[in-house]
Amino acid sequence: MNQTVIVLDFGGQYSQLIARRIREAKVYCEVLPWKTPLDTIREKQPIGIVLSGGPASVYAEGAPTADPALFSLRIPVLGICYGCQLMVQLLGGWVSPAQTDGGREYGRTLTRYDGESPLAASLPAEATSWMSHGDFVKILPKGFSVFAVTEHCPAAGFGDPERRLYGLQFHPEVRHTEYGQQILKNFLYEICGAAGDWSMAGFAEKAVRDIREQVGDGRVLLALSGGVDSSVASVLLSRAVGRRLTCVYVDHGFMRKNESETVSRYFSSLDMDFRMVDARQRFLKALAGVAEPEAKRHIIGAEFINVFSEQAQALGSIEYLAQGTIYPDVIESGQAGGAVIKSHHNVGGLPEKIGFKGILEPLRILFKDEVRALGRELGVPEEIVSRQPFPGPGLAIRVIGEVTAEKLETVREADAVFREVIASHGLAGQIDQYFAALTDMRTVGVMGDARTYSRTVALRAVCTEDFMTADFARIPWEVLAEASGRIINEVSGVNRVVYDISSKPPATVELE
Ligand code: XMP
Repeated sequence: MNQTVIVLDFGGQYSQLIARRIREAKVYCEVLPWKTPLDTIREKQPIGIVLSGGPASVYAEGAPTADPALFSLRIPVLGICYGCQLMVQLLGGWVSPAQTDGGREYGRTLTRYDGESPLAASLPAEATSWMSHGDFVKILPKGFSVFAVTEHCPAAGFGDPERRLYGLQFHPEVRHTEYGQQILKNFLYEICGAAGDWSMAGFAEKAVRDIREQVGDGRVLLALSGGVDSSVASVLLSRAVGRRLTCVYVDHGFMRKNESETVSRYFSSLDMDFRMVDARQRFLKALAGVAEPEAKRHIIGAEFINVFSEQAQALGSIEYLAQGTIYPDVIESGQAGGAVIKSHHNVGGLPEKIGFKGILEPLRILFKDEVRALGRELGVPEEIVSRQPFPGPGLAIRVIGEVTAEKLETVREADAVFREVIASHGLAGQIDQYFAALTDMRTVGVMGDARTYSRTVALRAVCTEDFMTADFARIPWEVLAEASGRIINEVSGVNRVVYDISSKPPATVELE
C-alpha cells in the first residue's frame, strides 16, 4: 500500500489541485468531503491531512467544519486558507471577520518568511504568494508561532511543531505562489515523513495484478472512445487479460478528421479483440431535425448505449464491463448536487442496461496528467497520449443546431486546418483545448467579385488548469490570420471566421 495523504475538501476551487501537486511530489493523495467521519479517515492511515480552502466564513451559519479530535490523531495537519482559519477557530484562537477588520487580500501578495519552521525550509526571506481571503487569523491558539507574514496578514504562515499542526493563509498549490511546491514538499517530506513511493510504473504493476485477481479467467468488455482515458485503460487491461479483453469502438461519425483510422490502426495491432462498429448513418438519422443542445446530447447518449448493448449481447457472456473513469469524475460525482450545466453522456447509463457481474475502473484514482504519464509508461503512442480532450458527442455538439452530413464535413475540415496551423506554429503544447465549431449563422461575403452567402466558423482555444474555469488563449494575430485565410480558401461553404474570446465562466468551453 502506498503512503497516503488526505485532502479534506471544504468546497474550495483548488482542492483537486492540492491533491495533484501532492502526487506530483510522489505521494499518493485522496480527496474526501469535509463531512467524512473521523473513523473513515483513520482507517486510511494517512501520513498527513490537508484541510483545503473553501468559500465560506467560519462564522457563517452551517459553515463546513471538522471534528476537533482530528487535531489529536498525532497525524500532521496542514490547513490552507479556510482550512487554517477553521483549525485556529477549533483550537481556541481568533479569526478576524473581514467586515470588522479589513485585511482582505486577493491575488499576488508579497510574503516574508521570517520565522523558523520546517514548512519554510529552503525558502528565501521574501517571495510572492497567492492570496484569496476575507477573514484572517488574528490570534493563534496556544503552542503556535508565526513564520510568515504579509502586509495585511499577521499570521500568513504558522505552526505548532510539537503537535505538527500547520496553517497557511495563502495557496501553495497555485503556480502563482513562488516556492509553493517546495512548501508542500516540506510538509510531506520534512513533517509527514513521506518516502515518495507513488509512481506510474508502480501503479501499472499493481493495477495489472489487481485486475488479474478480480477478473480471474473472465472476459472484459470496454467501450473505446479513442480518447486518452479509455485508450490507456484498454492498454492496461490488455496487459492484464490479453485477448479476453474486447474493445468496441463505435464510430458515430462525429470524430475529427482521420481519428477513426488512427484508433483502428493502433488498437488492431495490439493483443486484444478490437472491433469497430460503423454506426454513422444511424446516429445521423437519430439526430435529424433536432437542434436543441441537451436533446442532441441525450439522443447521442441513448443511441450509443443501444449500439453498445447490441454488440455486448451479440458477443455473448462477458462478465466485466470496463470504463475509463478518472479521479475528477469520481470526486465530482461524489459531491454532486450542483446544477447540471451540460450532461456529459459518457458517465453512467451503461451498467444498468446490461447485466454484468462487475465493473472495472482501473484509472479511477488517477488525475488526467497521471493517465497520460501511465500511457507513456505503457508505450501508448504520443499521438494518442497527448490528445486533447474531446467530448463524447464529438463534432455533433460543435455543429450549432441541427446536424447534417454536410455540416459535419465542413466543421471537420475547418477543425483539421486550425489544428494544423496551431501545430505548425509550435503552439499545441501551450493551449489546453482548441477546435473549430460551425455556427448556425450565414452572412454575406464577396469572393472573386461574386456575392456569397455562406457559413461562419468559430475558432475556440482555451487555457485551463482543470476545465472548470478557462480563459481564451491569446493566440498571435498572424496565426489567427493564417487559420482564417486557409479555412475560407480551403473549406467550401465558409466565408467568415470568428475567434471566440469568452472565458469560462460565464461561457463554457464547448459552444453547446
Ligand atoms: P464545457 O463545455 O462543459 O467543457 O466547459 C469542459 C470540458 O468537458 C468536455 N466536454 C465533454 N466531455 N462528454 C465528454 O466526455 C461530453 O458530453 C462533454 N461535453 C463537454 C469539453 O470538451 C471540455 O474539455
